[in-house]
Amino acid sequence: MRTYDIIYKKRMGQELTHEEIDNLVQGFTRGEVADYQMAAWAMAVCLQGMTARETADLTMAMARSGDMIDLSAIRGTKVDKHSTGGVGDKVSLVLVPLVAACGAPVAKMSGRGLGHTGGTLDKLESVPGLRVERSSQEFIDQVNKIGCAVVGQTGNLVPADKKLYALRDVTATVDSIPLIASSIMSKKIAGGADAIVLDVKTGSGAFMKSLDDSFRLAQAMVDIGREVGREVAAFVSDMDQPLGWAVGNAMEVSEAIETLRGFGPQDLEEVCLALGAQMLRLAGVAPDAAAARKQLLRALRAGHGLNKLIEMVEAQGGDVNYIRQPVSLPRAAHIVRLAAPEAGYVQHIEALEVGVAAAMLGAGRETKDSVLDLGVGVLLRKKVGDQVDRGDTLAEIHVNDESRLAEVQERLLGAYRIGAEAVPKHLLMYGLVTEAGVERF
Ligand code: URA
Repeated sequence: MRTYDIIYKKRMGQELTHEEIDNLVQGFTRGEVADYQMAAWAMAVCLQGMTARETADLTMAMARSGDMIDLSAIRGTKVDKHSTGGVGDKVSLVLVPLVAACGAPVAKMSGRGLGHTGGTLDKLESVPGLRVERSSQEFIDQVNKIGCAVVGQTGNLVPADKKLYALRDVTATVDSIPLIASSIMSKKIAGGADAIVLDVKTGSGAFMKSLDDSFRLAQAMVDIGREVGREVAAFVSDMDQPLGWAVGNAMEVSEAIETLRGFGPQDLEEVCLALGAQMLRLAGVAPDAAAARKQLLRALRAGHGLNKLIEMVEAQGGDVNYIRQPVSLPRAAHIVRLAAPEAGYVQHIEALEVGVAAAMLGAGRETKDSVLDLGVGVLLRKKVGDQVDRGDTLAEIHVNDESRLAEVQERLLGAYRIGAEAVPKHLLMYGLVTEAGVERF
């Protein structure tokens, strides 16, 4: 089988066989298929697309390119969650302990952030002592003992995706729905989850800017699940403005703790309840989403989610006093107010710009090796739909190194659009795609 023929066949819009896809991916992983050939093939996929069957074959070929984590030693249906990423997205910090407190085991491998905000692991590391590097056995033992763990990737997970993503990044082939769907799902499947709940973010601060493309991506990932025997539910949710108030590592941990105490921002709590309800349903812990939601709310109000977070932090070597008293988490030396330049209504907040502003303060990485400043970030005080008077605080800038403060202020002011007309509050959840079909909210 010649790689040339596989590229040509896809370029002509024909469906590749299971063997052709497998040969291509394994050859690429071993270094036998050249980067330029793989890039040409990725471009052909961008232009011609892939069927659901081809996308599932690509997913499994990539998943099998490295270690496949075996979580069968964990009792129950292991349910994982993944977000396509957004600004202020600290959902996992709330959801993992809350869902575990309701009886569904959550064995989560997370990543570090690159670009405009830290990842879940970076946020967790604001808690002194907490370790995210665990062996597979420690990971499994912890989930069996307390019901949840959030760790960095163990072993050599999905090397084909790492190599392919690096090529896509420099050949204008990132934004292909089958390539994105297979990239995300291959990592979840290699990570050993039985069931997966996805949060496809849509809007200016998200990877997917258009609502229709976001639904297409959600559908593609549900289709992969059906083809490979994993239950998948995929939400499409808003990222036209940051989620919650806080953008920055320790600040987001504090907000997650507040949410687990029942005093979090309403949008964050709502996303957690919606995703959590599907996780409990797929794990078989609740008969349906409505019953699951009640169970989650009871656990939240009773503080069971917070207690579970404390257990998880303790199990991973973190100092739980920082969870009990989040004021002791890393904090910035200065808080600078961003004042509204005019009166009116907040009509839009460019989420990406808020993320970039936080990264410029030191909350995100500019290169893979950047060291994060965990205490800094942006705390939004006004969100879309709010009325403001001239001089009102739009946001607080939590800063240590003030050398880029003027630039950060300018970016944040540019991120806010204030106008005379009132605008409705954003819709938070746009819909849910499951095997049963598409529900638009
Ligand atoms: N996230 C991924 O993991 N892969 C993609 O291709 C895009 C976003």
